[in-house]
Amino acid sequence: MGTARYSLPALPYGYADLEPLMSELQLTIHHQKHHQAYVDAANGLLDKLAQARADGVDLDLKSTLKSLSWNVAGHVLHSLFWEGMAPAGRGGQLEGPLAEALLQEFGSIERFRREFTQTAASVEGSGWTALTRCSQTGRLLIMQVEKHNVNLYPTFDILMVVDVFEHAYYVDYRNDRGKFLEAWWELVNWEVVGRRFAASRG
Ligand SMILES: [Fe+2]
Repeated sequence: MGTARYSLPALPYGYADLEPLMSELQLTIHHQKHHQAYVDAANGLLDKLAQARADGVDLDLKSTLKSLSWNVAGHVLHSLFWEGMAPAGRGGQLEGPLAEALLQEFGSIERFRREFTQTAASVEGSGWTALTRCSQTGRLLIMQVEKHNVNLYPTFDILMVVDVFEHAYYVDYRNDRGKFLEAWWELVNWEVVGRRFAASRG
């Protein structure tokens, strides 16, 4: 029976290192409260499944697995989100093969940025926007995720992701998702995104 558990990853920078674009308070609450809650809930659900198997009892699998999907996807997406940021000016440039692939798919970097921002701005309620690479066609595609786990494309590699749950920005920007997105673009770690693209291509 499996015993491995999820754990909250340490941030690759200090809590105050993304200021002033993302405040220490915003980042601390988001990481230590929100992300931690998904980790804890995912582990709790795995324990619940294991316990039911050990006891030979049936669970409401529809509701248990729905909740597990929400929490595990939340954990995985947050982990990608933290890794994909860097202090302003420290994330390198969008260049090389990734820039070429974006040009080929979107026509221009400007067009890619506009579509990505519009996608993130128009997520209904809580969700995410991701730049992904299709493992079958090798093409880049922007994915608009509702909640943590709706409208995901199976087997697509996530290269870059932004959290547009209000909990990602309410401390700094209140309800202004557009302002948060402008700030987030300044925090993208293009070296990480480029490495993920290279890994996806193999
Ligand atoms: Fe979040």
